Amino acid sequence: MALNNEIAQRPTAQQVMQDAPVIPVIVLGAVEEAVPMARALLAGGIRMLEVTLRTPVALACIEAIAKEVPEAVVGAGTVRTAADAQAAALAGARFVVSPGYTHAVGKACRDLGLALLPGVGTGSEIMMAQEDGYTALKFFPAMQAGGTAMLKAWNGPFNDVKFCPTGGVTAQNAGEFLALPNVACVGGSWLTPGDALVAGDWTRITRLASEAAVLRRG
Ligand code: 3PG
Repeated sequence: MALNNEIAQRPTAQQVMQDAPVIPVIVLGAVEEAVPMARALLAGGIRMLEVTLRTPVALACIEAIAKEVPEAVVGAGTVRTAADAQAAALAGARFVVSPGYTHAVGKACRDLGLALLPGVGTGSEIMMAQEDGYTALKFFPAMQAGGTAMLKAWNGPFNDVKFCPTGGVTAQNAGEFLALPNVACVGGSWLTPGDALVAGDWTRITRLASEAAVLRRG
């Protein structure tokens, strides 16, 4: 599982999406959870980790993982502004995921040299992200916005785009998404359930990660 140093330090959005079939979407409530959680996911074979900027400790968690678990590639999720992207970079994030797309977030990530997976839910948003050079996109919220049927429709006009569907994706339906030619990976929070994080049930998180790591892509 040795990770090429350049990929670890500065992965492209394509490399972030291709590394494993699932990117865990992580919500951490305490800094103490960050390092053992990252080690538990790594033990299951998942190293691209999206820590969402949804809790007051998120940046501190990113910093702890970046320092103490160098085999992991930690990214920041829920990035909504240029300031969020700058704070994430300062904390040591190696990539950024956003729930939607704005030119300001796109420009900030480019200026920072950070890979960005911009969130899109419509054709116009795909076109806006493409205009700015982004072709590896997060489809969010995937289930609510049309699921696999939407991705099949997009594979006509947007067949040069690869997606990471996220939002409502589970261990049960991930395979249907991963079988599609325009899906590189999926994202989801099911690998790091809140109750397992609070209880410190790292064995459960490793098991969920190892089951996710072997999901087949089409
Ligand atoms: C996200 O932020 O990408 C989603 O909230 C994750 O969605 P899920 O909890 O349905 O996996």
